[in-house]
Amino acid sequence: MATAHQPVMRDEVIRLVDPRPGDFIVDSTAGGGGYSLAFAAKVGPQGLVLALDYDRRAVDRLNKLHQEQGLENLLMAEANFRYLEEAVKSHCPEFWGKAAGIVFDLGLSSDQLQDENLAMSFQSDGALNMNIANQGPNAYDLINFRTEKELADIFFRFGEERNSRRIARAIKEARQKKKIRTAAELARIVSFVQPPSRRLHPATRVFQALRIAVNDELGNLSAALAPAVRCLRPGGVIAVVSYHSLEDRIVKIFFRQKSRISDGPEPALRLLTKKPLVPAAAEIKNNPRARSAKLRAAIRIINTHD
Ligand SMILES: C[S@@+](CC[C@H](N)C(=O)[O-])C[C@H]1O[C@@H](n2cnc3c(N)ncnc32)[C@H](O)[C@@H]1O
Repeated sequence: MATAHQPVMRDEVIRLVDPRPGDFIVDSTAGGGGYSLAFAAKVGPQGLVLALDYDRRAVDRLNKLHQEQGLENLLMAEANFRYLEEAVKSHCPEFWGKAAGIVFDLGLSSDQLQDENLAMSFQSDGALNMNIANQGPNAYDLINFRTEKELADIFFRFGEERNSRRIARAIKEARQKKKIRTAAELARIVSFVQPPSRRLHPATRVFQALRIAVNDELGNLSAALAPAVRCLRPGGVIAVVSYHSLEDRIVKIFFRQKSRISDGPEPALRLLTKKPLVPAAAEIKNNPRARSAKLRAAIRIINTHD
């Protein structure tokens, strides 16, 4: 099945990475393949794009495209970018430390948002899940078996939800009567205790928080950035598109710290974006999912031996 995902800020990412024929690029979040295919076209037959995703469905879809179109310079791998070093070293060890670009386009693809098996949306009647890599606990486990306090902490930390305690209590009371099975059921419980808002669906923050917790999104990102920099050659570019302030903060702080170290053991970066770039108004109009995107990029300036 074709992807429903429209790449966000693709032109800006390509411009910052500026790939040349023969380059090696890692697309850490292949998704619908929007970035990977554009990079593959730029690096040409002598180059290579390693495209990672921890969603097997995304990898299968791209593999199919790969076979149909004979894209010899695109290599797909099912992997969590948290283990980027292992993924690069096992699939193309000769390119470790030689990447011209490593990109992250975080969060969810439209394919995942629409996938009833994942039940990401508060409108979904699918069983509570959200677990993209299908490993560890899913949203059903968290909602029905975590303590009230643990749930409140998840909603507050990952959703910045001010009513976290009240929502966690309502969930506890509801699940004592019967287990909460679907995304739509959870959304109804949350909506019942939330004051109405004109901007957001009352369950938006709770769903964001659950998704981040189930997939350990912030842990993955924090673990991936240092290895990504080590995988770049001097002059290589790391570019990250994030979609909420928690992710953007991790990237901003990491880039800032690395751009200040000039002679430490780790490679140092020079910022290419002092402030994050945001999508043009025309892109947001055409693809409203782009509206919260922030793009930060930096260039590796020191070579270390690792
Ligand atoms: C916004 S989409 C990427 C879209 C892609 N740039 C495109 O143009 O089609 C995000 C993708 O990153 C993947 N992803 C998120 N976290 C990941 C992780 N820790 N490891 C590997 N893939 C991840 C998701 O499964 C999803 O397919």
